[in-house]
Amino acid sequence: MIEEGDVRAALAEVAYPGLKRDIVSLGMLRSVAVRDGRVHVSLTVSTERDDVPDLLRAAVVERLARAGAVRTEVQLLTPERHAADRDPWRNQGRLSNARRVIAVGAGKGGVGKSTVAVNLALALRASGARVGILDADIYGPSVPVLLGLEDGAARTRMTTDKQIVPLEAHGLSVISFGFFLGADSPAVWRGPMVSKAVTQFARGVVWPDLDYLVIDLPPGTGDVPLALAQAVVIDGAVVVTTPQRLATLEAAKAVDMFRTLDVRVLGVVENMSRAVCSCGRESHPFGRGGGDRLAAAADLPLLGELPFADGVVDGGDRGAPALIEAPDAPFAQAMHRVAASVRAAVEPMPALQETA
Ligand SMILES: Nc1ncnc2c1ncn2[C@@H]1O[C@H](COP(=O)(O)OP(=O)(O)OP(=O)(O)O)[C@@H](O)[C@H]1O
Ligand SMILES: [Mg+2]
Repeated sequence: MIEEGDVRAALAEVAYPGLKRDIVSLGMLRSVAVRDGRVHVSLTVSTERDDVPDLLRAAVVERLARAGAVRTEVQLLTPERHAADRDPWRNQGRLSNARRVIAVGAGKGGVGKSTVAVNLALALRASGARVGILDADIYGPSVPVLLGLEDGAARTRMTTDKQIVPLEAHGLSVISFGFFLGADSPAVWRGPMVSKAVTQFARGVVWPDLDYLVIDLPPGTGDVPLALAQAVVIDGAVVVTTPQRLATLEAAKAVDMFRTLDVRVLGVVENMSRAVCSCGRESHPFGRGGGDRLAAAADLPLLGELPFADGVVDGGDRGAPALIEAPDAPFAQAMHRVAASVRAAVEPMPALQETA
């Protein structure tokens, strides 16, 4: 006869629709009751995707039938934020030195998440805030290059109680997984190793007092965002996409993941929205309207549309971010508007005073 432990074990093998992650490790399981082979399961779900509730029910019923359930009832609940009984979050802490923590990314590879994270951090800094950046892309950290800290591994210091001291670049406090990896390749690490490393990393840095800590995430919806969200309180997430349909589909999954992890999504940034040639004519090499469509479908604001800018690639390679190299260019202007929207969205008050 099926028992509670069997049900929990079986549910740990049910993937969230569209994600590789299972519903138990996502913290969605609220309760299990079993009597005479009949199972009642309640799950918390927060999604704007219409197909998810039915897909979830079907997957749970199918898996539990295979585990020997005579009948399964699935109750779907809307999560209350930070409910006390959420097990995976019991160790979650607020970073004491960072007033607001903002995660960027989790969408498709190469859409410009790191570029947005770095330039968002610089735009927040330019408005007078104290800002740090945490490069949590353990598979391909790019912040050291983007901020000209390729010698970071040699320069990073630990305090006597083994806390990491961040480096400085362009007025930002910076820490990157890239400073610690050496010859290690986390690409082959198993999930628990990734979680442990991310948790230590997220909590083990002695940040100076910061108004904002911006976190650059790796692409996709894997172990890193999960571990981070369970380790520290993330006040908001910014999802980056290009206008391309393929990119918006990945970004929609990222939105879903953040919501499932109880992280508020602040909005969508469309990167490489348009290209402007020196003759002044605009073109749309990656299509049009993807960011808008995603924002509308997910009921989110479109925080900004960043143009394709020649200087971004070259400046990024030289550690000279676009916001500093070309402060008045359309890319920088659009980035400042994104930063203002992000700031307004993460503050409990209507908005911070405009400082610069
Ligand atoms: N607005 C832009 N204009 C021109 N080039 C850009 C723009 N945004 C990003 N790029 C370039 O696109 C490439 C990918 O950008 P980036 O590394 O920021 O993406 P990513 O999403 O973080 O990638 P990954 O998934 O590998 O982490 C880089 O070469 C970057 O310089
Ligand atoms: Mg990146």
